[in-house]
Amino acid sequence: MNLILIGAQGSGKGTQAKELAKAFGVHHVSSGDLFRQAAEDGSEVGTQIKALLDRGELVPDELTVKMVLSHISAPALVHDGVLLDGFPRTLAQAQALDDGLSREGRSIDCVVYLDVPRDILVHRLSGRYICKAHQHVYNIESNPPKVAGKCDLDGSDLYQRTDDQGPAVQKRLDTFFNETIQLLDYYRQQQKLRTVNGNQGIDQVTANLVDSIRDCLPQKG
Ligand code: AP5
Ligand code: MG
Repeated sequence: MNLILIGAQGSGKGTQAKELAKAFGVHHVSSGDLFRQAAEDGSEVGTQIKALLDRGELVPDELTVKMVLSHISAPALVHDGVLLDGFPRTLAQAQALDDGLSREGRSIDCVVYLDVPRDILVHRLSGRYICKAHQHVYNIESNPPKVAGKCDLDGSDLYQRTDDQGPAVQKRLDTFFNETIQLLDYYRQQQKLRTVNGNQGIDQVTANLVDSIRDCLPQKG
């Protein structure tokens, strides 16, 4: 089973993907997490990626597609399936994903759009903290850690992402609402799209996502 979670920055993709991956037994693949790892490796490409991330700009399609397709071609991910979070973000990426999967006899089964109003997104991002060890996600208002500054699950330090501050926030949201949003039509035409209201409590959103994906799957083929 191969799933895609589409949503604007701060809509809750990372928060929900961890729960959905457990519920459906698939691997959570976040292109942003892959890029943040690459940005830390000290290579020339890593340094270029870091500059793009800090400015809130998209990494070029060619590099993004190569990185994600090679990651999801690992035998365990082919066998168990994937939940893609943050990829694809452009029509070119969506087409390359379909082509790459079909070359391996695979396909996308279901795409869910996590719908949250823009003003709520800005507020959520300003209160987000991430754990250094495993990128578990917290929020000072809606999902605070039990001990300030420490991850509940692994005890590692929490930090704020550089792109959650300053002009990068609005730039990322502009890219989503001007460009990535076009993917909804692409997947609607393929009759794979479901929409879930992401502006509810975290547990309620999880329950609605699980129902939506279950509802979507039997209709395939
Ligand atoms: P990425 O890491 O994917 O960042 P993003 O798209 O900006 O999305 P976020 O991680 O900000 O939001 P999220 O939806 O995961 O929200 P979260 O669950 O954390 O990408 C980073 C960068 O990498 C990009 O800017 C780009 O440079 C590059 N990149 C990545 N993919 C690329 C691609 N395909 N092509 C090109 N470049 C690419 O939740 C947010 C906050 O809200 C948290 O504090 C959380 O606790 C809280 N929260 C969650 N749900 C709720 C709820 N229901 N109610 C209240 N609070 C909630
Ligand atoms: Mg995320």
